[in-house]
Amino acid sequence: MNDRLSFLVGHLIDAVRVNVVSPQTINGEIGWFKRRKIGMDVTIGLGNIFLKLSRSRIWMFPNCQAWVQWEIHCFHLLYGDRIECHTKGNRGFWVQAMPGKSLWQWLQEGELTIAMMEAAGKTFRHAHTRHTNFFPGGWSHGDCHLANVLYDPKSETAYLIDFETRHWIQLSTEERQADDLLIFLLDITGRCENWAELLPIFFQSYNRPLVMRQLKLYLSVPNGWERLLWATRSNYLSTPQLLSRIAHIRTQFLSHI
Ligand SMILES: Nc1ncnc2c1ncn2[C@@H]1O[C@H](COP(=O)(O)OP(=O)(O)OP(=O)(O)O)[C@@H](O)[C@H]1O
Ligand SMILES: [Mg+2]
Repeated sequence: MNDRLSFLVGHLIDAVRVNVVSPQTINGEIGWFKRRKIGMDVTIGLGNIFLKLSRSRIWMFPNCQAWVQWEIHCFHLLYGDRIECHTKGNRGFWVQAMPGKSLWQWLQEGELTIAMMEAAGKTFRHAHTRHTNFFPGGWSHGDCHLANVLYDPKSETAYLIDFETRHWIQLSTEERQADDLLIFLLDITGRCENWAELLPIFFQSYNRPLVMRQLKLYLSVPNGWERLLWATRSNYLSTPQLLSRIAHIRTQFLSHI
């Protein structure tokens, strides 16, 4: 698929939203209400076909209740009783607002910093040491691009949110967690001019060699449907740019792994 066609198809995929998120205050507590739109079964079915064809390693929940339970489970697993999160209505849940703004917002405001990369690395590292009954090994996120990582400058802490997709259960812990790193790095590589400055800080802070070794195996630009997936994840970086940046990451930042 050439770059222009993948750009068009990718934008169509990106435009699909199966959930609605809106700010909502309950008993004086500021939070977010997220619910699944009605009639999304076909969209989710088609989305999962694309996710399979593109070897994405993740899937969307066809079952609304299972999705809500997974989101709540992840918030509790990562944040314990520091964050309130419960079902609301029969198609969604409410979660207390966490401090800060998403890395995507910081980037839009031209304020994405090295400190944020350090905090993100630490948070990914910590989250990946958690265990859940859903997987035979460690926990993984499944869609941790910049908009799903919040950063609070006061506490200098990053927080993961948005557990809308889940990794395929048959993958190993390293395969799933390396995929989290891949999603994050493709977003940084595609959106940030200073990606070469930011990524080494993230890797130094994350510092889990087994997972990073697996990541290295993922770092070759694919073809076909998977290339389209990479296009949506890397902000439609052109093939020559993607090839040179990915080669740089593999040989310069992960050579010691
Ligand atoms: N607990 C939270 N604390 C702070 N902000 C939140 C929280 N939950 C959601 N948000 C905000 O709402 C946005 C959308 O939430 P979320 O990522 O869960 O859903 P989404 O389906 O990805 O929606 P969108 O496609 O609009 O990003 C987040 O990027 C974040 O800005
Ligand atoms: Mg999101």
